[in-house]
Amino acid sequence: MTLDITPSGQACGAEVRGVDLTQPLDAEIIAVIRAAWLEHQVLAFPDQKLTDADLERFTQYFGPFGDDPFIAPIPGHPHIIAVQRAADETAPIFAESWHTDWSFQTRPPAGTCLFGITIPPKGGDTLFANQYKALEDMPAELRARLEGRHAIHSARNAYSPAGMYGDSDKAKGRSMDIRPSADAEATQRHDLIRVHPETGRKSLFGCAGYIIGIAGMDHDEGWELVTELYRWQTRPEFQYRHKWEPHTLLMWDNRCLLHMATGGYDGHARLLHRTTIGAR
Ligand code: SIN
Repeated sequence: MTLDITPSGQACGAEVRGVDLTQPLDAEIIAVIRAAWLEHQVLAFPDQKLTDADLERFTQYFGPFGDDPFIAPIPGHPHIIAVQRAADETAPIFAESWHTDWSFQTRPPAGTCLFGITIPPKGGDTLFANQYKALEDMPAELRARLEGRHAIHSARNAYSPAGMYGDSDKAKGRSMDIRPSADAEATQRHDLIRVHPETGRKSLFGCAGYIIGIAGMDHDEGWELVTELYRWQTRPEFQYRHKWEPHTLLMWDNRCLLHMATGGYDGHARLLHRTTIGAR
């Protein structure tokens, strides 16, 4: 079997055809997909009529399941969450700010799989920002200020009771089953510049949002650096915009990307099933 892999022509991303993900894959095909994933960072597999079991099987070709906190799984599938919004929902769009999935964990997930089930006729694109490229093209003066620094990551701004998805979100009629918790107050340090464990390439890791400060800097000084970095690392020239079709599976590499959801589909429902690929 030969795969047909077409780069997006943007800063990252490729479309993959010529494989049926409803069927078990052999080691050779899995290796080709892994290599393409590492090269292009985001892979889109169109026209895949996946069941939840297919999504789970595909995810586990690339690592163990990740640990998904703060969002209840769908019934009967402890490793799948539903990213969803009802047609008449007025709650703010889920994940509509740049982030790396669960970067506040000790061992953040290597990747994420997201399968499009109900896709609105307009809007709802997912944006990605290539963090290898953001680092490689960075002005030397900014890079010098990041080298050797550790970022402090936390879920508190999102998932603590006082956070964006906390107590104040409950009255907004959100259809996603988000479970805020005091556990979100925990913090975790990660290098701002990390070596990707599989490609050996250096990349930026994470951004303002889950990053709440810089170790060894006072809050204001650290935040100034984090926001200057954010403006750089999310520039349009580092981005790929994924436009969804129903039955597309997307897989991305959290170790060298930022991503965010977008809106623009009020009046239309959107439903995707998501798994995370844990770090090995
Ligand atoms: C996510 O960050 O997992 C959600 C992305 C999306 O809804 O487009």
